[in-house]
Amino acid sequence: MRLSKFWLAALALIIPLATSVAANEADEAALAYRQALFKSIVWNFSPMSEMVRGKREFDAAEAKKRALTVSYLSLLLAEAFPKGSGSNAGTTDALDAIWQQPEDFAARLKTFQFEANELRKVAEQGQQESFTAQFRKLGAACKGCHDSYKAD
Ligand code: HEC
Repeated sequence: MRLSKFWLAALALIIPLATSVAANEADEAALAYRQALFKSIVWNFSPMSEMVRGKREFDAAEAKKRALTVSYLSLLLAEAFPKGSGSNAGTTDALDAIWQQPEDFAARLKTFQFEANELRKVAEQGQQESFTAQFRKLGAACKGCHDSYKAD
């Protein structure tokens, strides 16, 4: 009897501890996932940026492929900002404002996803001028979000 009371008390202590550890692991995983997505986005964004800035020749096939990838990655960001995956989950440049103004943040993300999808469509036409114009809009969507929600 005494023993079982002891174990009940021990379990009562351990169970919440275990679930809070699990939650932290999920938050840390979300943070790592988010940062990996942004690294993957910039990996594909940079070569397009170089084309737009004349640092390398416009390559329609490559532009099409990279625009498609960025558009796809932009959609994955939808689940990369769960509550709890901010500064308490590890080293991050994501500002608390993301979770304090979730509607505005969601609107920023939506704008980004929209512009990325537009770039994907434009890139399929293979014309440098329209690609450049839409690429600038996409870049503005990155900056628009970073200005409010990412530490420098
Ligand atoms: C909806 C908001 C939002 C949009 C749109 C956005 N970013 Fe970010 N970005 C962030 C936040 C927040 C972080 C910080 C993530 C972290 O550290 O947890 C970040 C981080 C980054 C990083 C650093 C990744 C790392 O950990 O090394 C790069 C690079 C980056 N973004 C590039 C871009 C580019 C390029 C675009 C547009 C093509 C873009 N971002 C669009 C919010 C956004």
